[in-house]
Amino acid sequence: MSDIAGLIQTVEREQVAALERIALSTKVAELEEAEIAAIGRKAPMSALKRELGGLSEEDRRTLGRLLNDARLTIEAALDGRRGQLQAREEEAALQHDSADITLPPRLRAPGHPHPISIVIDRIVDVFVGMGYRVAEGPEVETDFYSFEALNMPADHPARSGFDTMYLSEGVALRPHTSPVQVRAMMEQSPPIYVVVPGRCYRRDSFDASHSPVFHQVEGLAVDRGISFADLKGTLAEFARALFGPEERVRFRPSYFPFTEPSAEIDVSCPTCHGAGCASCGWSGWLEIMGAGMVHPNELRAVGYDPQDVSGFAFGMGVERVAMVAYGIKDIRQFFENDMRFLAGFAG
Ligand code: PHE
Repeated sequence: MSDIAGLIQTVEREQVAALERIALSTKVAELEEAEIAAIGRKAPMSALKRELGGLSEEDRRTLGRLLNDARLTIEAALDGRRGQLQAREEEAALQHDSADITLPPRLRAPGHPHPISIVIDRIVDVFVGMGYRVAEGPEVETDFYSFEALNMPADHPARSGFDTMYLSEGVALRPHTSPVQVRAMMEQSPPIYVVVPGRCYRRDSFDASHSPVFHQVEGLAVDRGISFADLKGTLAEFARALFGPEERVRFRPSYFPFTEPSAEIDVSCPTCHGAGCASCGWSGWLEIMGAGMVHPNELRAVGYDPQDVSGFAFGMGVERVAMVAYGIKDIRQFFENDMRFLAGFAG
């Protein structure tokens, strides 16, 4: 026969442990585990109940009542705690679910290309449409490609117009994209039709019409029998494609060491179509590039025979073209990262 005092102690211990576990439960699920542990089928108290039959009548009554009371106390505690926890969980779920309509929606600005990139793409597209290929060259360039091969030997006065930042003897930031003419011709044989977009650098003050960092798109066509008429036709077609069918080009005699003859190219003002207005300074024309027939000395420098092939080249200022296309008055706006300006080129 079991020791009744020990059994009573066990029930009391079980009850204390169960109440503690119930009070410490923080979730309904935890509470359910506590319930199973305290009064479930495999709980020590349930086992004791099954052993009641083996006790004396008196002990059975004492222990039976104790077990009953313990179970009622535990069930009451379970109910109370369950009510608390359910209320808490419902409130948390409600808070989680409710939409805070006072918050503004989080719109993400997707961004868009810079106006200079947009204009470069448009210019390049026009020439690619005519069968030109895109070529590129380094921004840090040697004296040979920037000057020497372009018919500008060391003491040539025209070099001062292309002054730039020197990194070491004979190595400088390129002052134009023309060195890529030389690279393209040395890499392949005629026929050559390339456009060269790229960044250039010059020793220039930063004012409304100058920037020490700017962009050009160079063009080069070398083939048998290329003439000045081809240059004129190509640039006239370019102006129509980029600025509109009404616009024309005008050639003014000019000088570059690497072209002969050379010309400065103007486009009729897209605002007044040549009549003269405030945006073209009442002249009707806006200057956008330099061009000419590739100088025989440059053809020789790359190993070509000027008797055999000829070519034309042009180099346009991208900022210039963009200012003409969009009616922008100050070149500095392209480089100041002012979102009020740049946002106007979205889409
Ligand atoms: N490289 C010249 C400049 O930057 C432009 C040019 C290019 C002129 C090709 C003639 C031929 O001013």
